Amino acid sequence: MRTAVYPGSFDPITNGHLDVIERASKVCDKIVVGVLNNASKTPLFTAEERVDMIRRVTGHLKNVEVDSFTGLLVDFAAAKDAKVIIKGLRTVADFEYEFQMALLNRALNPEFETMFMMTNSKYSYISSSMVKELAGFKGDLTGLVPCEIIEAIKEKYK
Ligand code: PNS
Repeated sequence: MRTAVYPGSFDPITNGHLDVIERASKVCDKIVVGVLNNASKTPLFTAEERVDMIRRVTGHLKNVEVDSFTGLLVDFAAAKDAKVIIKGLRTVADFEYEFQMALLNRALNPEFETMFMMTNSKYSYISSSMVKELAGFKGDLTGLVPCEIIEAIKEKYK
């Protein structure tokens, strides 16, 4: 079984993330979405809330599992018996950082292969931080994040 891990902060999940998950779920037997629970950052949503939101919006994908992790991504991937790490690429700016991370992860454990998926062009400008900034200004989030989670984001800025 070819299992891949799709890691990220997902604070919150965007339509760009969901598009990558949907496409990756067609080419892999199983996708484990790994939500980083980073104690040194203060996210808008707790790891539990982020896991719950991703489960809600990926319920239609039967081969997608969602879990949170702390520590190294390669350790999480090993625990999930995954040999592939999926990353989404939007811009050249993403590439520089992701290239460095992929090489570091390979140095940490050469068993893992990082595979990149180009974003769908209609989502290339969306990021979780832009979504949060827009939500802070009471902007319209339609089309940027799955509609099921719009209320939960608005709730945080009340
Ligand atoms: O959505 P993000 O914030 O760009 O995702 C970044 C993430 C979670 C993929 C990255 O920070 C990560 O893999 N963190 C886990 C710690 C780790 O393995 N770091 C690399 C070696 S120091």
